[in-house]
This record gives sequence, C-alpha cells and structure tokens, in this order.
Amino acid sequence: MTDTPTDRPHPSTPAHVAIIMDGNGRWARARGLPRHKGHAQGAKSVKSAVKSCLRHRVRYLTLFAFSSENWRRPQKEVALLMELLLSAINSEIRELADNGVRLRFIGDHGGIPANVRRAMGRAEARTATNDALALIIAVGYGGRWDITQAARRLCGQVKAGALSPDDITERMLGGALSAADAPAPDLFIRTGGERRVSNFLLWQLAYTELYFTDALWPDFNEAAFAAALDDYARRQRRYGMTPEQIDGREAANA
Ligand code: FPP
Repeated sequence: MTDTPTDRPHPSTPAHVAIIMDGNGRWARARGLPRHKGHAQGAKSVKSAVKSCLRHRVRYLTLFAFSSENWRRPQKEVALLMELLLSAINSEIRELADNGVRLRFIGDHGGIPANVRRAMGRAEARTATNDALALIIAVGYGGRWDITQAARRLCGQVKAGALSPDDITERMLGGALSAADAPAPDLFIRTGGERRVSNFLLWQLAYTELYFTDALWPDFNEAAFAAALDDYARRQRRYGMTPEQIDGREAANA
C-alpha cells in the first residue's frame, strides 16, 4: 500500500465512494470452491479498493461487509465471515495505520461476537487521528436500522424537553445517522450484476451516482475501480436543477 498519491484529487474524483461487494459466492462456485474461499478472495479486493482510494485521493470509502439481513445466512457462513473480519483487522491494521487510514465500524453490533467487537474498537482507537482516508465498514448494518436509530435519538431529545417535534429538520435527522461526519457518498458501486441498493445507506444515497457492474467482487481490481471513477467523471450531477443551470455554474467557476 505504498503508492504515492497524486498531489491533489482530480476535480471530478468522488470524495466518498460506497460499495456493495457482491459476488464472492459465485466467484467461488465457478472454481468449485466453498463460499468462504470467495469471501477470503473478496478480502483481497478490499485491500485493492483501499489502495485505489489512497492513490486517487478518495477521502471516504464505505464498504458493506455484513448486512442486517446477512444474519439469515447459514450459521457456519456467518461464523466464517466473522472470523474473516477478525483476521483481516488483525493482519491489516498495521499497514492501514501506517498509510493514514482511519477505520470506523457502523451498524448494530449487538450480535457481533465479543472478540470481533473488541478488535473493531481497538482498530478504531489506533487509527482515530489518521486523515488520509476514512474507511467505514458497515457490519450488522441496514439503512432502515440507521434511520430508525436516528429517529429514536431525536425522540429521546424530544422526551427530555430539549427539542420540539416541529423543529426537527432533515439536517438534524441526517446528523443523527451513523458516520454523520462523513459527507453523503458521491459514487455508489455494486459488483456482481444485481441492480439494487439492498438497504445500504438509504438516506445518504438520495443524490448519489449509481454504478453497477457485472464483475464479481473478487475480480474487482484497481483497473475496475479506475473504470468506475472514469464513469463517474462523465456524469453531470444536477440535484434537481436543469442542465443549463449546471453549465452556467461550471462556466462561472472556470
Ligand atoms: C456478498 O457476496 C458478500 C458478503 C456478504 C460479504 C463481504 C465480505 C468480504 C468482501 C470479506 C471481508 C470484508 C472485510 C471488510 C475485510 P455473496 O456471498 O452474496 O456472493 P454471491 O451473491 O455470489 O452468493
């Protein structure tokens, strides 16, 4: 992970990329391997994605490692995924820390084994002051869970008399979500051919550019990441405005 980043990000580089890493199981099946071998290979693609972000100066990378719905998978696969997460944290933490990566875990961690939770906490503490890249790993995460816990927090303030329901704004609700200090993702990538957001960052994806690829996650290498960034650079983000308004703004800023 020793790439020298370009001095400044390209103007159309996304500040925040969010990824659904799909296709590990199919990658393994195509090779006659058990599913967990696909997840292990997927962990290598995680490393490659981090490297790409450092190289291109993407400041935030959010990865959907384990959804609230993934608890429904066979117990053995869930256990192997938890083990993989633990071993990836333990084996990569030093290199991540040395490269200025700040680790952060979001989600409902109630069902996560205690040793994995402890490793997550240690990794967060060790990297807390790093600022080259914020690597946000969603574990036991669901977008609906996130909005619900944000609503619950605001309701707590209402109950305590510190907030009136009439004063609740979108900004406040957004600010009560997990990882609210990160900007909304600019680019969402889903590998593995499905075209859905599967309960990931539902609130934050409102104006995110969506990119779907048939590549399976273990095959998603640095060239594939660069292709997604190129595609993003060609998009025009309008936020409800007309193309003419956007062109006028770009001309004024040139
Ligand atoms: C989806 O593929 C992938 C997952 C549910 C797990 C993702 C986990 C990793 C990439 C490895 C570890 C992560 C970190 C952050 C170190 P799938 O199993 O649904 O694949 P399929 O659709 O082909 O069956």
